[in-house]
Amino acid sequence: MYSYEDLNQTAQYIQGKIGSIPKVAIILGSGLGPLVDDIKNCIEIDYKDIPGFPLSTVEGHAGKLVCGEIGNKPVIAMKGRFHYYEGYDVSQVVIAIRIFKLLGINNLLVTNAAGGINKSFSPGDLMIIKDHISFFAPSPLRGKNFNEFGPRFPDMSEAYSKKLREVLKKASEEVGVKMQEGVYAFTQGPMYETPAEIRALGILGADAVGMSTVPEVITARHAGMNVMGISCITNMAAGILNQPLNHEEVMQTAKQAERNFTCVVKRVIDSWPE
Ligand code: HPA
Repeated sequence: MYSYEDLNQTAQYIQGKIGSIPKVAIILGSGLGPLVDDIKNCIEIDYKDIPGFPLSTVEGHAGKLVCGEIGNKPVIAMKGRFHYYEGYDVSQVVIAIRIFKLLGINNLLVTNAAGGINKSFSPGDLMIIKDHISFFAPSPLRGKNFNEFGPRFPDMSEAYSKKLREVLKKASEEVGVKMQEGVYAFTQGPMYETPAEIRALGILGADAVGMSTVPEVITARHAGMNVMGISCITNMAAGILNQPLNHEEVMQTAKQAERNFTCVVKRVIDSWPE
């Protein structure tokens, strides 16, 4: 486990590389990494060069920070995130969020690949994350509280900013991309869910399911950051269709959705409120 001092040292290292403070931090989910090609004037920092940073291991994740501009907005993007199923302690999974906060960044855009539970969804759809369910994995805030970031018992009643959801709706309408909206359920992975688990999650109110995002969002909200979330529905969740799931399908659908995804993200970053 790291200390507040450790986090400050990592933040100082990154600060020394990037110059000005990004307005929005973006976490790119599985298969959604190519968005970094749209970041102009960028500086790249490999995770392996960042003191205190874990290494990303999953296929399809490059593992670097890319800092530059989208439109005229300064951003920092994580190409490759840390997943709980990779074996990290959950505090490691969220380390970058705390670093972003220390850098003075107050806005987070999280993205992911997710399985669709809501039967009105189709693979390739993008979903505005309205809320999440996190019953089945440990909290990233477990353990001694970092009072420097936020309270012991943080409020989660608006984990995904209502205002930012409206901004996202407007931006996607402007670029002509239809968005679904729904609740994202977090599972530990790495196995996909069983059909019974998916039925249960559906009854609990989930529209989509995935193995990321929620730890980062909890940590960001703990630190008072504004959060926007987008899921790319890469497959229908287990048992919804009569077919097995596989990682290749997830990556392939994410690739097909890339154009819409990039279009929406570029517009929404451009219209991010002050
Ligand atoms: N389940 C969990 N995680 C996922 C899925 C899924 O069906 N698709 C993409 N990530």
